Amino acid sequence: MAERRTNLALLGLLVLAFVTGVASWLVGSALVRWIVLAHGVVGLGIVALAPWKRTIARRGLARRRPGRASAITFAALIVTSIVAAMIHVTGIVRSVGTFSPLGIHVATAIAAIAVGGAHVVQRPVRPRTTDLSRRNLLRSGAVLGAGAAGWLALAGVLRATGAPGADRRATGSFETGSGDPARMPVTQWLNDSIQELDPASWRLHVLNGARSYPVDDLVAFDDTLRATLDCTGGWYAEQEWRGARLDRLLEGAGGESILVRSVTGYSRRFARSEASALLLATHVGGVPLSAGHGAPARLVVPGRRGFWWVKWVTAIDVNGEPWWWQPPFPLT
Ligand code: HEM
Ligand code: HEM
Repeated sequence: MAERRTNLALLGLLVLAFVTGVASWLVGSALVRWIVLAHGVVGLGIVALAPWKRTIARRGLARRRPGRASAITFAALIVTSIVAAMIHVTGIVRSVGTFSPLGIHVATAIAAIAVGGAHVVQRPVRPRTTDLSRRNLLRSGAVLGAGAAGWLALAGVLRATGAPGADRRATGSFETGSGDPARMPVTQWLNDSIQELDPASWRLHVLNGARSYPVDDLVAFDDTLRATLDCTGGWYAEQEWRGARLDRLLEGAGGESILVRSVTGYSRRFARSEASALLLATHVGGVPLSAGHGAPARLVVPGRRGFWWVKWVTAIDVNGEPWWWQPPFPLT
């Protein structure tokens, strides 16, 4: 395969891998299964091109010139990222120190994309109109076919060997502590830290403080919901959550969106119309929440990834901004 075509194919696959990877965290519906599958096929397509890229890299490395350091850093990050992803997929190793293989995969992939930008600028490849020829489309199909074959082979090996990875959820997460909250891992988004709040003095402030609830008043609502918490760190747990539904807490308050805030300053916004599907939980599995899981009260958001499930909630407000008026991922 010509060098130029290999590099262009890698460029396309890297962009697709990044987009599908990010999308797999954003999409909560049944569609996530297909996004994760596409991500695997595209990622393994990159692996399929490795022998060709190795020849290119070897020749390029023989010619010492500026841009060499970023090319080598890029290669190291991509290889680490893909190896970490494969380890995650098998499920044989679930943590490396305080990191999960999936966390390492995502962190190195994001770094790789940044360094890869420099590599593509320093080693430019100019696309030509003939790149869109029928023959090249067939070649692209063959690369994706190899990725798909790799994906099927991997799934087959996991099933045949009974590896833990065979039981991954559609999002790629592993079951951990369903029905047993004490076994559920405690994870925070980026720099958020566990809060030890005194339930006796804690109050939930609703509608800019117009309503205020101590824990016992929330418990008295006694609404229950069975929902699966699926963390982007790569684990999930199905639990019975108990507390107060947001449509009841916000009764009579109109507006476009609901802003749920944590004492840490972390917040997420939801459509006002979603209120009846959201629960502010004080209990999980019949026992009060632990500090690590968000005591005295945390949000339960069925069908969405963990970073929507705000912990240590202190305020719930309704206002005129649309729900999507927020960064797609929390920044702190
Ligand atoms: C999996 C992704 C990739 C990795 C790991 C990778 C790595 C490397 C390495 C280690 C080299 C040799 C170092 C050097 O030239 O100084 C190289 C060369 C090169 N890369 Fe990449 N690269 C990747 C993707 C791309 C992409 C997406 C493009 C452009 C669209 C590209 C274009 C080039 C070019 C033009 C060379 C020079 C080849 C030569 O001079 O003979 N690479 N790459
Ligand atoms: C340069 C970009 C990336 C590449 C080359 C890449 C490649 C891969 C590969 C090869 C796998 C294993 C495939 C499988 O058998 O399922 C994988 C899995 C995974 N990746 Fe990425 N990835 C990239 C970026 C991302 C990003 C940015 C995210 C999330 C924000 C992400 C999330 C995931 C997840 C959740 C899995 C596990 C899926 C499963 O368990 O089936 N990836 N990735």
